[in-house]
Amino acid sequence: MQQIQSYIEAHKDRFLSELIDLLKIPSVSADPAFKDNVFKTSEVIKDSLLEAGCDHVEICETEGFPIVYGEKIIDKNLPTILVYGHYDVQPADPIELWDSPPYEPVIKTTKTHPEGAIFARGACDDKGQMYMHVKAMEFMTKTNQLPCNVKFMIEGEEEVGSVNLSKFVKANQEKLKNDVILISDTGMIAPDVPSITTGLRGLSYVEVEVTGPNRDLHSGLYGGAVANPINVLTKMIASLHDENNHITIPGFYDRVENLSDAERAEMAKAPFSLEAYKQSIDIDAVYGEKGYSTNERNSIRPTLDVNGIWGGYIGEGAKTVIPSQAFAKISMRLVPNQDWEEITELFKVHFENIAPAGVKVKVNPHHGGQGYVTPIDSIGYQAASKAYTDTFGKTPIPQRSGGSIPIVSLFEQELKSKTILMGFGLDSDAIHSPNEHFGVWNYFKGIETIPLFYKYFTELSK
Ligand code: BES
Ligand code: MN
Ligand code: MN
Repeated sequence: MQQIQSYIEAHKDRFLSELIDLLKIPSVSADPAFKDNVFKTSEVIKDSLLEAGCDHVEICETEGFPIVYGEKIIDKNLPTILVYGHYDVQPADPIELWDSPPYEPVIKTTKTHPEGAIFARGACDDKGQMYMHVKAMEFMTKTNQLPCNVKFMIEGEEEVGSVNLSKFVKANQEKLKNDVILISDTGMIAPDVPSITTGLRGLSYVEVEVTGPNRDLHSGLYGGAVANPINVLTKMIASLHDENNHITIPGFYDRVENLSDAERAEMAKAPFSLEAYKQSIDIDAVYGEKGYSTNERNSIRPTLDVNGIWGGYIGEGAKTVIPSQAFAKISMRLVPNQDWEEITELFKVHFENIAPAGVKVKVNPHHGGQGYVTPIDSIGYQAASKAYTDTFGKTPIPQRSGGSIPIVSLFEQELKSKTILMGFGLDSDAIHSPNEHFGVWNYFKGIETIPLFYKYFTELSK
């Protein structure tokens, strides 16, 4: 596919301006204030898929935001690739920490992106990465090189748990039938260290509530004589890890898959600088479960983290009060074989168990999802590996990621197909954070690599 480079070169400016237009629409799925913009984005995606050469594109309404489905079936006997992505984005808050407005994309150079990066909410997660697939499709259809069938399924609720997509997948198994699922919604190690994501962590998300007295009390009159919900909650949370940073919930590790020494040695070969890691986030030491490296702690090991905690008086000055209630949001990242519903239940039972007399504890489960791991000897992985080898000049490294895309395990369960995660973002691209960006080089590299995946997957399937 020599032509791909010249095709990109000839259409560079348009490829960038189309993505920039897409990024200007604030498609925040979590906040009802952005509802119209989320719907509008689905229309833009629909038009772009038609423009890229899909024969049939439809907007599939759901109880929430629509799923854009598109396809081009050229021959029933050829393999079918199903591309998944999401057009919704995370809220931009805190907006004051952005150097430029989140929905007014600008291209700036950075140390990691000397060729420039597009700064905007959704640039990397996932509009930019999803749009690489639309442009790769355009290249293949316009130059008559589409080697197989393709289906697109682009949703608008990934950042809020993909609830309606789950129903859609269960109800449309025939329509979504495929030989492999292809997703660009993860990252890679570095521009000169290509990698393919072979695992994702699962997730269990809960909110906890500790209630003491029926009203806020004077901390002098009552202090010392009744349980203070914030004191109790922080003590309970602290007890969830032991001195080795091991999680103390009974049964929590029962199903955790233990990697062999050989597998761990293989993982440790991936280039990684602890110094650069610490420097990039301005910490003087790393922290975590005893006996595991940083890369193991953030990928193959489960975690428990408080995401937010509140209660009592947090206004100006001092107020002497024992609050009636205290709250926290807690996420647990899970590894393959751990079942998120079982872990949620173990958490609930344990948390209620450790509550001292004098308070009431409530655990409200939010959402969750299973982890995922995929072998490297599949046709899909081999095709991706060959594609990267062509465009990066190096064999990519398999890498398990710490992030979660819960729908991937549902795909496997319902559609019986494996997912190949070809991510082109960098950890430093600040997804979900202020100043999210996506490298221009990464964007074009993705567009260049994707058609080769189609080619090799089709060849290897013969
Ligand atoms: N694209 C991310 C997940 C991701 C990013 C995986 C980088 C691996 C590397 C996705 O949009 C996301 O943010 N997922 C959420 C979970 C979801 C249920 C809200 C997450 O991981 O927190
Ligand atoms: Mn994403
Ligand atoms: Mn995300």
